[in-house]
Amino acid sequence: MSRAPEPAERLLFEEAATLVDNAYAPYSGFAVGAVVVGPSGRSHHGVNVENASYPAGLCAERAALAAMVAFGERSVRSVAVAAVGGQDCLPCGLCLQALSEFGDPEIVARLGGEVRVTPLSDLLTAPFAGGDGARGGPAGPGAEEAGR
Ligand code: THU
Repeated sequence: MSRAPEPAERLLFEEAATLVDNAYAPYSGFAVGAVVVGPSGRSHHGVNVENASYPAGLCAERAALAAMVAFGERSVRSVAVAAVGGQDCLPCGLCLQALSEFGDPEIVARLGGEVRVTPLSDLLTAPFAGGDGARGGPAGPGAEEAGR
């Protein structure tokens, strides 16, 4: 299921950890940073952004995913997630679903106190793919635009 990170994946996790201080998490105190990497290899950054109206808050992973799409990439290769204080933090179910639209990335995140690499499809085995099953993740129509 999960494996130890390669050196580049460990660096990606450390990059996510540098973002934690920029998170806006005054309500939960659980600051999170995320890095999403697409086909170009460029890093796209996100942090969680909470709100006084709690459901309006945004997770770090979806913030990073939006940055990737805004940049013009539509395929996710890797996602690194780091939480305040080195706490364990895998993407929530909502973020797994959102990421699955754009592929089956490796998730680099602390798990059981260690940085591990786990395919998204091991964490979300049955993403919603549209009512008829013909569209959507893993690797929905957006991700099929290969090379972007
Ligand atoms: N959060 C993330 O940003 N990513 C995760 O993977 C888990 C949870 C945020 C949402 C909320 O702002 C805070 O952490 C507590 O749930």
